[in-house]
Amino acid sequence: MNKMDFSKLVITIALVLVLFLCMDGSEGVSNSSGSLSVGDINPPFAHHKVNLSVYYDSLCKSCALFIIKDLRDIFDSSLISIVNLRLVPWANAYINNNNNSISCQNGPDECELNSLESCALNLWHKVDIQYELISCFEFLAIEGTINTWKEDCLNQLGLPEKPFLNCFNMGNGTQLGKTYINQTAQLYPSPLSVPWVVVNNQPVGNDYANFAQYVCKAYRGDAVPEVCNSP
Ligand SMILES: *[C@@H]1O[C@H](CO)[C@@H](O)[C@H](O)[C@H]1NC(C)=O
Ligand SMILES: *[C@@H]1O[C@H](CO)[C@@H](O)[C@H](O)[C@H]1NC(C)=O
Ligand SMILES: *[C@@H]1O[C@H](CO)[C@@H](O)[C@H](O)[C@H]1NC(C)=O
Ligand SMILES: *[C@@H]1O[C@H](CO)[C@@H](O)[C@H](O)[C@H]1NC(C)=O
Ligand SMILES: *[C@@H]1O[C@H](CO)[C@@H](O)[C@H](O)[C@H]1NC(C)=O
Repeated sequence: MNKMDFSKLVITIALVLVLFLCMDGSEGVSNSSGSLSVGDINPPFAHHKVNLSVYYDSLCKSCALFIIKDLRDIFDSSLISIVNLRLVPWANAYINNNNNSISCQNGPDECELNSLESCALNLWHKVDIQYELISCFEFLAIEGTINTWKEDCLNQLGLPEKPFLNCFNMGNGTQLGKTYINQTAQLYPSPLSVPWVVVNNQPVGNDYANFAQYVCKAYRGDAVPEVCNSP
């Protein structure tokens, strides 16, 4: 093969490769390495996932029941496969302008629990761990035994104490609270009640117990979970 033929061959191969990668990319589901798109980083169809955000405060009973009972269905069914679940504590809390401290609707105990839950959300990024820990806290809160959270939640779930206590004791949970309060303040429309459940930017209002129906309706991907097919 002479030099001319060789470079033609190289160009042809390059063109075919580029074409292939473009087609590949447009499918959005395969493991192309040509361009960095959402599909490259996340599992297939990750970009079709429905955003489910739950704004709540930690000592509100209807919030606790929603988290413990209704949200568990996401994990028990396979709904979690099509959902980006985001828990946002510190609803109904506000930052005092004069001293930059936070006040919570249900008092300092609620601020403390909000802080604990903020640490949970920020130390562990796997949503099932976040959920289990926060659900555990909320369960104890309802039972009136929140003081045993270390043994009954952290230890029971096998989560390391040290980073968690660091986060909580150094006030990071409260600092994070300011971010959550800001995020909540940016909601439009503003929450009228809690839990305030938002599906892809659409609040579901008082119908939050039926959130799964809204999620299924909002889903645009092909991997429809069984739970969305049942009447
Ligand atoms: C995608 O490509 C990367 C790197 O080439 C590889 O490590 C990974 O296993 C591939 N994933 C799938 C689902 O094929
Ligand atoms: C900050 O100010 C608020 C409202 O003025 C007050 O209730 C609260 O006790 C103050 N907190 C601290 C830590 O000084
Ligand atoms: C707490 O916040 C400080 C300052 O932002 C940061 O350096 C530190 O890593 C945080 N610690 C934890 C446990 O989150
Ligand atoms: C929250 O928002 C206020 C006003 O928009 C801003 O000054 C502050 O820096 C924000 N705080 C955080 C923690 O994002
Ligand atoms: C879901 O949230 C992500 C990140 O917050 C955002 O980029 C994406 O557009 C949202 N998806 C929908 C369908 O609203």
